[in-house]
Amino acid sequence: MTSPTHDKASWLADAAPDELRRIVVALYRAHRLVSAITDLDVLLERILEESKQVAQAEACSLLLYDPDSEELYFQVALGESGDLQTLKREIRLKVGQGIAGAAAAARECVNVIDVGQDSRFYDFADQRSNFRTRNLLAVPLIDRDELVGVLEVVNKVGGAHFTGVDLHVMEMFSALTASALANARLIEKNLRAERLAALGQAVAGMSHHTKNILAGMTGSVDLIDQGLSQGNQEFLHQSWPVFKRCTERISNFVEDMLAYSKPRVPMRRPCDLNSVIQDACETFQGLLVVKKVGLTVDTSRLNRRPSLDERAIYRCVLNLLTNAADAVPREGGRIRISAYSASGNVVWLEVADNGSGVPEAIRESVFDPFFSTKGSDGTGLGLAVTRKIAEEHGGSIVVETAPEGGALFRMCLPCEHTTE
Ligand SMILES: Nc1ncnc2c1ncn2[C@@H]1O[C@H](COP(=O)(O)OP(=O)(O)OP(=O)(O)O)[C@@H](O)[C@H]1O
Ligand SMILES: [Mg+2]
Repeated sequence: MTSPTHDKASWLADAAPDELRRIVVALYRAHRLVSAITDLDVLLERILEESKQVAQAEACSLLLYDPDSEELYFQVALGESGDLQTLKREIRLKVGQGIAGAAAAARECVNVIDVGQDSRFYDFADQRSNFRTRNLLAVPLIDRDELVGVLEVVNKVGGAHFTGVDLHVMEMFSALTASALANARLIEKNLRAERLAALGQAVAGMSHHTKNILAGMTGSVDLIDQGLSQGNQEFLHQSWPVFKRCTERISNFVEDMLAYSKPRVPMRRPCDLNSVIQDACETFQGLLVVKKVGLTVDTSRLNRRPSLDERAIYRCVLNLLTNAADAVPREGGRIRISAYSASGNVVWLEVADNGSGVPEAIRESVFDPFFSTKGSDGTGLGLAVTRKIAEEHGGSIVVETAPEGGALFRMCLPCEHTTE
């Protein structure tokens, strides 16, 4: 039996008060679906739950339409006990095939009072469960003339079959559901496009950065070659530090990418924070000397061996120090690193400089991945990695204005298991 074609409003006039109440409730539920949910998976499950309630059905399933293959495939099915069955994408129906296919082809509801008498009925879902289908109502989901899928409500609660009022209620419900589904799909598509665009930008930035470092390496290798073949010591002295610096930059870049790429649980161990800072400073000695930077390290108020991930904290110090070294002026640059213990088992790590500072407007953005003001000289991963490590330790990092006039990065690291 297909849906009657009489005037849309006339059936409403004939509806009994409790049926009118059902209609209002159904519309209210559908409205909540349309307005509140944009996550496609959540929406699909909610549609099934609501459809069961609205149609007073024992079970319900949703088939989505794949326009490329012109097939319907099962997305979700909700049984009587509320368990989701795993029919996902396994079973496909051509438009016109089965009862759902018939509803899709005719773009009209199909109300089957006794499936045993209908040759179009496939019992594949029944075969996989103890469920027995007696009657069902298949409703096409159509949004702006496009077929989105088919909703099937199965077995009217109480042993009867679905009525004309059920059919109209489901028609209204499905129209709103179809537009909610189409909206959620559109949002997902846009998000995917945005993610791909962001990924493309990130890859382009990283490739550019790598190319820059490689260019520096190639230049210094040429000079080293000439120095070796001509026995020219001056060429060797000039190019060797450049080459060394390039290998450091490449290895830092790779370490940052690895640190950023997946969540990590810190490998906490009692750590000698003073030596970690000294190690990071030594890596920088060459550059600091060249730039004539005055570096001071103060760990005098660090009265415990905090339990931290040494390798990860080394990365943070290195990143903060690199940024400070980049920021300080050519003449008279000053960098101050201090680490001190505070009450509540917290260690503070601070790096201050007398550079240009971080303007108020970008103080949050500097911690975003790939945010950099250094063009192809920076990937914008340094501070993102540093914040990630701080947060993985249960801590945080902020940037303020240093008493020296430049930037002051303050990293708070809770470390419960400290030893005196
Ligand atoms: N000490 C600082 N003084 C001034 N600006 C800073 C300082 N540290 C960071 N910044 C700003 O924050 C931005 C992001 O820093 P981040 O370390 O994440 O990336 P980057 O240094 O640009 O590149 P890289 O990935 O090579 O570290 C920098 O480009 C810079 O604009
Ligand atoms: Mg940096």
